[in-house]
Formats: sequence, C-alpha cells, structure tokens
Amino acid sequence: MTRDLFHLDMDLYLASAVRLNFALLKLKIALAAILQSQGIKGPSYRFHHGNTKEISKMMEESKKKPMKLSHDILSAAQPHFDSWLNKYGSIFLYWHGTKAQLVIAEPELIKEILNNKDGTYLKIQLEEYFKKLLGGGLVTAEGKKWITQRKIANHSFHANSLKGMVKAMTESVEMMLERWRINYVEGKNEIEVFEEFRVMTSEVISRTAFGSSYLEGKNIFDKISKLATLAFVNTYKMKIPSIGTIFRSSDEIESEKLESEVRNSIIELVRKKEEEMRLGGSESSDGCDFLGLLIKATQETDEEKKISIDELIDECKTFYFAGHETTTGLLAWTSLLLAINPDWQDKVRKEATEFLNKNYSTSEFYNHIARSKTLNIIINETLRLYPIAGSVNRRVAKKVRLGNLVLPPERFSEGVAKATTIRTTTAFLPFSYGPRICVGLNFALLEAKIALLMILSRYHFALSPTYVHSPVNCPTLQARYGIQLTLHALRIQHPSLQTAVK
Ligand code: HEM
Repeated sequence: MTRDLFHLDMDLYLASAVRLNFALLKLKIALAAILQSQGIKGPSYRFHHGNTKEISKMMEESKKKPMKLSHDILSAAQPHFDSWLNKYGSIFLYWHGTKAQLVIAEPELIKEILNNKDGTYLKIQLEEYFKKLLGGGLVTAEGKKWITQRKIANHSFHANSLKGMVKAMTESVEMMLERWRINYVEGKNEIEVFEEFRVMTSEVISRTAFGSSYLEGKNIFDKISKLATLAFVNTYKMKIPSIGTIFRSSDEIESEKLESEVRNSIIELVRKKEEEMRLGGSESSDGCDFLGLLIKATQETDEEKKISIDELIDECKTFYFAGHETTTGLLAWTSLLLAINPDWQDKVRKEATEFLNKNYSTSEFYNHIARSKTLNIIINETLRLYPIAGSVNRRVAKKVRLGNLVLPPERFSEGVAKATTIRTTTAFLPFSYGPRICVGLNFALLEAKIALLMILSRYHFALSPTYVHSPVNCPTLQARYGIQLTLHALRIQHPSLQTAVK
C-alpha cells in the first residue's frame, strides 16, 4: 500500500470515557505502520470503511442488550473502546475510514498533550456535520482567532460575571419547579429529567449569555439539537469521495437547511440585540453579556480584537449547544445517582438548609457554593462515573516524543524505536486540562449546584420503575430512554433561594 492512496492529514483525537481519558491519533497508513513498529496494536484495517462498520455493529448490539443498573458504562456508551481496550491495552490504533486514530488511555500522557503550549497538538478539523454544528467557534478555533474569542468568553464567564448570573439561574430553576408543582398537585409526580433540565439550562444560557429567553431561542435550540443528532448518527457512515460529492444524502440536505435556518435566527437575534443596545434602558441593553460583547467585537477598529459576523454566528452556535447540553447531562446523571442513594439526598438537603437560612449576599453565596462540600463530592462522583463530554480530539502538527512513543507528523516516515508497555491509572479530567480547559466550567457548576439545592429543598425523589439504564454518547453522554424519577414533595418547605439570596 502506498501512502498516496490515503489522506495526508494527521490528526490526534482525544476522547474522555468512563473513568479513563483517551487520545486518538488520526494517521495515514504509512504513518500507522510507524506506530505499529513501536508495538502499537489494534483492529485490522478494512477497505474504505476502516473499522466503522464494526463500531456501528457493536453499538447496535449494545443497544439490544439489556443492562443492569451498573455504573461501569463503557461497554454501553462506547462498546468499541471497551472491547479494544481489553484486547489491545491502553494505547491502540484503529481506523475511522481511511484515517488511523491512536487511542491513548494514559492520564499522564493525556495531560502532557492537553497542557502543550508550543502548537504540537492542535484541534482537529471538523467533519462536515460537526462543522455545521460548531463552525469555527471557540471549541475549534486556533491561534490569534482563539485568543480573541477566548478573551471574550473568559470575560463573560469569570467570577464577577457569574455572580451577576445567580439571579437569572435561580429564577430559571424556579420556573421549572413551578411546572413540577402544578403537575404534582394534579397528581403527576413522574418527571423525565433530561427533558426538564434541557428546558431549564436553555433558559439559563439564553438569559445569561444572550439576554433573551428559552422561548425566544427555542427555535435555535431545537435546530441545534437536530444538527447534533445528525452529526452523531452520521459519524460512522463513510462516503466514497467522488460519489459523495455528486449525490447528497437526505441527512446532508437536512443539515444544510438546519444550518442556514440557525444562521438566520441568530442574525435576527443579533439585530434585535443591536437595536436594544442602541436604544438603551433595558436590563440587557448595556451589551455586557456574551452576545453584547460579541457584537461589540464585530465593531472593533483594532484588528486584533475584531471578529467577523460569521465568527459571531459560529460562537453563538457553540454556546447555544455547549451552554446547555452539557449541564443538562451533568444534572440528569447526578439526579440518577441521588435517586438511588437517598442518604446523599439528605446530605445535600442539610447543606441546602444551611444555605437557605443564611441570607447571604450574592457574593457570599457565590463563594460559599463554590466550596460546598457535599455538592462538590456528588458532582465530581457523577462526572467520574458519567463523563459528559464523550470526546476530546487533537491532531499532531509536529513530530514529537510522547512517553516512549514517537508520534510522526504529516509526511514523516523514518523508523522509530520499539515502545515499551505503559502503566495505566485512572484519570479525572471531565472539563479537559491545560489552555483549552472548558471555559464554561464554573458556569456549569454554579448552575448545577443552584438547581440541586433548590430541587432537594422541595422534593425527595426516587428512580421510577419505568427507568431503563442505557447510557449512550450522542455526542454528549445521554440516556437512550431518558431518566424517569418519581417526586415526593417534602412536608417542610424551605425558604426559596430566590428570597434567601439578597
Ligand atoms: C458539565 C458541563 C461541562 C462539561 C463536562 C464540559 C466539558 C468540556 C471539555 C472536556 C472541554 C475541552 C474540549 C477540548 O479540550 O477539546 C470543553 C471545552 C469547552 N466548553 Fe465545556 N463543558 C461543560 C459545560 C460547558 C458550558 C456550560 C459551556 C458554555 C457556557 C461550555 C463551553 C465550552 C467551550 C466554549 C469550550 C472550548 C474552550 C476552548 O477551547 O478554549 N462548556 N468543555
């Protein structure tokens, strides 16, 4: 086989999975041979499809198998990784179509990759469906563009800005709890938490980042969710390049339509916001929220700080998606763990009572909730067992030594020394690590903690008998059939957080 048969790009893919984090390296076949010569094993390459058919088959099979309520979810969420890790060890090579990918489940090596600052490991270039979903937003941006965009996001989500968001967060949770209360008094005490939290977190990101409401942004959220689903279901479908450019599938046509509709809706939102900023007088008209800062950046005269309209749109799409899908998952899986561990519900309730009786200022509340012991334990345990972000990806831009391996960059074809076995330990990097660490980390934690405090100060909950355990990466960690809980209102209702926080 000659390398000319295959793509010349070489990407490094990192993916976090259950209690492990993975690095996947996309290599052309000649380069894969170099890794194989270093002792790296993996499933055999199959013409054009690589291992994608096997992956799809394993996923189909895992869908059919009933799973007991175990937290060892890798075999359900990512069955191919589970199988290959067991067979080939913590570093292996597999094929996504004609592109080889190196999976590394070695925490120290992963940290080294994520912490690299000299441009050796870059973000991957997204495939078409994911490009439509995230475009060139912060998640994929590199270089100067990333620095400009990261500054805007850092400013919007740093501690002082977050303190200003406590009110919007508590009000959004209150809206959800009011819906629960109305249903409860009508005798409906079962809820599906993914759906409930999706609406609540959408309300929060709409209000805090975009100065609008869930209902105003509903159209965008719905279409972005559809784009994410299309991106996920097409991940392992390989197109024959020449035919693929002539015939477009119905999914491709639909995703193009969705992308254009999302774009139009965001432009409409931006026009409305610009008008508000021009007129002034309302809460969101000062242009200090995320959308306001993005709009101001499009008007910058300093080229270093300026962003284009297309960049603004991509950034909005990124935050509409990342800003709610992730926290929804965190809250939903935390609820599952709490539902089956009622003693931990009591511990949070005790912590909630302390918070609610203190009458903190927003600033005090923010500082205390960041250090809340029980909530931190529960959230970390959820993220350890149920990692929300299914994959973190990188590509290798320069030849580099990583542990005992030599990773060749594009066009590198020298021989290398044989690798020795590397020890595996567990890793905990749910928000990634290094310069590209999640920019929404503190935002997500604050929102999740507020929601848990408020929910547990009003309800006990248990897992509904209708619940079927089936975690799946899609592309964040979802429950295939949702998570159903039964609510039991507490007899002693605690003061509302809205009134407790001044
Ligand atoms: C439980 C909640 C969340 C988890 C587990 C999570 C996880 C992650 C991870 C693993 C990364 C790193 C990706 C990489 O290194 O390639 C990341 C990056 C990012 N996250 Fe989050 N995230 C969460 C919530 C959020 C929220 C609420 C927002 C927005 C408000 C957000 C926005 C972003 C953005 C924009 C990036 C890219 C940052 C950059 O590359 O500079 N995330 N997140």
